[in-house]
Amino acid sequence: MGTALAHRLLSWHRPVARQFAFRATTDPWAVLVSEVMLQQTQAPRVERHWIAFIGRYPTPDALAHASVGDAIRSWQGLGYNRRAVRLRETAVAIVERHDGQVPWDPTELATLPGIGPYTARAIAAIAFGAPVAALDTNIRRVVGRVMHGHGHAADPGPIPGPARVQVDADALLEGSDPRAWTLAAMDLGATICRPRTPRCDACPLVELCRFAAHAAMAAGATAVPRPAPRAVSPAPSFETTNRWLRGRLVEALRSIPPGEWTAIAGPIGRHSQQAIAAAVQDLRRDGIVEMDGEGRARLPV
Ligand code: ADE
Repeated sequence: MGTALAHRLLSWHRPVARQFAFRATTDPWAVLVSEVMLQQTQAPRVERHWIAFIGRYPTPDALAHASVGDAIRSWQGLGYNRRAVRLRETAVAIVERHDGQVPWDPTELATLPGIGPYTARAIAAIAFGAPVAALDTNIRRVVGRVMHGHGHAADPGPIPGPARVQVDADALLEGSDPRAWTLAAMDLGATICRPRTPRCDACPLVELCRFAAHAAMAAGATAVPRPAPRAVSPAPSFETTNRWLRGRLVEALRSIPPGEWTAIAGPIGRHSQQAIAAAVQDLRRDGIVEMDGEGRARLPV
């Protein structure tokens, strides 16, 4: 099944592949940087930030020699600034432990700061062609549906655990080009095998898919497969979140000259002075902010 599925997946993908600058390289450092950016930021938004960042820090060595503050400044526009701190630590570890070369082994990659098992597998498959499936949310959904009918209202089976889905995904990828398979499965998940509105009519895997088979059998009531309904709670407005506040604080610190201290005055938006002080302490713990004895802050130098 793996080979037949991979063949259909890759034939479908060739003419429709989403083109991003970070997909046009197999340079391991460039791929690693893109995968860290893609952890929490959508691919179309990542593109221009990746181009600028990799232009500035084309090698692990270049980033390892930058200050933490410069790494955070160069991360502007991406959010989740802890990633910039960890990425710089990863650059230092690559220089110190691997002679400046990104390791290929996913187990080794996963020991680097900010590189979890998913990111490690994505780098191994995309940059090095290692035969490992990187299960991001899109690929997990694709594999869960194809192999297990996962998520269909008519599906009687238990929800497969992550380890099982990983074994299945690795088997599906076997015998294929890992880089091409990974990018194709990502695009299938993003454009066809969508979370709420899958387009099974346009899917190259429809004849091999358990989710689609359930849909076809489900009393013929609907021709279009539907995922089981999911309870949704309303999201809090972004401005009330801690993430928003952290973003504003880092933005304020980016705008002052490197090395200068500044006192942070509140309120900011609807956040009190107390909430601000707590957020600054969190940022300090994460290595994003330094503080002096007078409670003033700056990006690390
Ligand atoms: N496109 C969307 N997500 C991607 C990822 N994580 N790696 C490469 N290309 C992608």
